[in-house]
Amino acid sequence: MKNREFTFTMIKPTAIRFGKLVPILDEINHAGFAVIAMKMTRLSKAQAEKFYAIHKERPFFEELVSFMSSGPVLAAVLQKENAVQEFRKLIGNTNPQSAEEGTIRKKFAISIQENAIHGSDSDQNALIETNFFFNQFEIFSNNESFL
Ligand code: CMP
Repeated sequence: MKNREFTFTMIKPTAIRFGKLVPILDEINHAGFAVIAMKMTRLSKAQAEKFYAIHKERPFFEELVSFMSSGPVLAAVLQKENAVQEFRKLIGNTNPQSAEEGTIRKKFAISIQENAIHGSDSDQNALIETNFFFNQFEIFSNNESFL
């Protein structure tokens, strides 16, 4: 598979708690992304620490880990040309106050931490984050194994 064709996303606990899961998936669908893997799961604190290990020195790390393990998340792998960049445009700035009108975070985020959705920031991280949640038997495109 060409790395540039896919990205990883995770819809965060408060977005799910407040009934925004389907509306967010609708936005993703309308933006032309194909879902090639998807699962709803709940992260343990240890798993959330591992997923966000890159932020472990940041002052918000502990709170982020508590938040991300506070309820179910929806993890998915999405396919589109230039997926990482296109998806980051769709979700908008990390801080919803700075996110452009029409972006998912502008519409659905509560705060910079509870910002509704995660999107990979590079092709390399898209692969790492996909492998964190999915194995090769769980990723499909048009009924064919994607890998
Ligand atoms: P995400 O795109 O998942 O990547 C790292 C996450 O850390 C980010 O979204 C936010 O949920 C959280 N985050 C980033 N910056 C801050 C901040 N200044 N305060 C609290 N949480 C933050």
